[in-house]
Amino acid sequence: MAHAFLKCIDAACGHVHPIGWTAPKCSACGNQLDVSYEFDSASVEELRQCWRDRLSSDNAMDRSGVWRFRELLPFLRPGVHPVTLCEGRTPLIEAQRAGRWAGGVRLWVKHLGANPTGSFKDLGMTACISAAVAAGTRAVACASTGNTSSSMAAYAARAGLSAIMFVPYQAIAVAKLAQAIEFGAGVIQVRGSFDDAFHLLDTIAAERGLQVVNSINPFRLEGQKTAVVELLEQRNWRPPDYVVLPGGNLGNVSSMGKALRELAGLGATDRSPHLVVVQAAGAAPFYRQWLSGGDLEPVTPPETEASAIRIGHPANWRKARREMEWTGGLVEAVSDQDIHDAKAALASDGIGCEPASAATVAGVRKLRAQGKMPAEADVVVFLTGHQLKDPDYILRHNARNDRALVVIDPDPDEARRALDQMQAG
Ligand code: F0G
Repeated sequence: MAHAFLKCIDAACGHVHPIGWTAPKCSACGNQLDVSYEFDSASVEELRQCWRDRLSSDNAMDRSGVWRFRELLPFLRPGVHPVTLCEGRTPLIEAQRAGRWAGGVRLWVKHLGANPTGSFKDLGMTACISAAVAAGTRAVACASTGNTSSSMAAYAARAGLSAIMFVPYQAIAVAKLAQAIEFGAGVIQVRGSFDDAFHLLDTIAAERGLQVVNSINPFRLEGQKTAVVELLEQRNWRPPDYVVLPGGNLGNVSSMGKALRELAGLGATDRSPHLVVVQAAGAAPFYRQWLSGGDLEPVTPPETEASAIRIGHPANWRKARREMEWTGGLVEAVSDQDIHDAKAALASDGIGCEPASAATVAGVRKLRAQGKMPAEADVVVFLTGHQLKDPDYILRHNARNDRALVVIDPDPDEARRALDQMQAG
């Protein structure tokens, strides 16, 4: 059995906490924590075979695309059953037209919108809610731009926990709000930004006995690691040149980098892809920090139509920076128009996603145009959320496409006229 513990990310502190520690921060210095392991020595070939065998197993843990890789997140005591909705097992799809649009790269999308609640958050939530249950937690909470909260609500319902979410008032996609309401979460709408909502929760969570399940909770990142492991497995362990992610609170890129470091440490990969983070230009504090090299300057208020990544003060920027440096990463910022065009390019391949996810493809195009990414590069973008998470965005941007939206009576002549109009040109 591997040994798991929580360790302060500040190398100068390095304070170690037991795995059952539920505060998200280091007790000695207040910095963030990593879940760390002393892994059992294992043959890489045996591990890969074992993960493959589980694909055809009917055991509940094996059917989850997170817990199938449990040797990489061995923090639950043996015999403890995780709270799972069979998350993961998401498709890897080639996107040729979008690849040409982005400047001539070999483009594949790993679609994390195919998770149970429609976003990558489920990968982290199964891990984090399982850890919370193991620690005896009764109530969980998050601040959210909408996806974390719908995922939290689903997994909390499944575990029988109470769930409270703090969201920016009238600033998250209505579909996400609807999901959380159906799963029974309490919704507190804050007149302010995501950052205001997060700060508010952070201030009062401990006094109200609420376990925060935002990505500052280190167990979240453990589950999210498996997205890149599954990707490498789907590619027969041949790493792409670049793995591209949208950046908001920067938990996802932190988890991907951690996974790549741990896989390299286990000898499961001999080369890591470069991680690429793409932010929306109006909410790009990490992009600016990456260029300046100084401390992160929060952006207030953050502005972008891609509401999922409308975040001005990302909590995980230090972790993200560490992983970007380790993989020789790139950071880019794209306009809302770029995001919209990238979403249309993906749609021409029959691939839908939410706006934040399309920022990845927009970023690839920009990096190609600047010569920072070579032609024919082997690129995987992570699409983080489902197309139907934000139908309002789609309708707003396509409402003038009146050839595609015609109303008629059930009359053959009217149908003929509508077809004439649609099929013209
Ligand atoms: N894409 C989508 C669809 C998201 O919902 C988020 C974050 C991100 C990308 C950015 O990921 O924060 O790990 O850098 N959504 C959070 C939420 C903040 O509350 O749902 P990140």
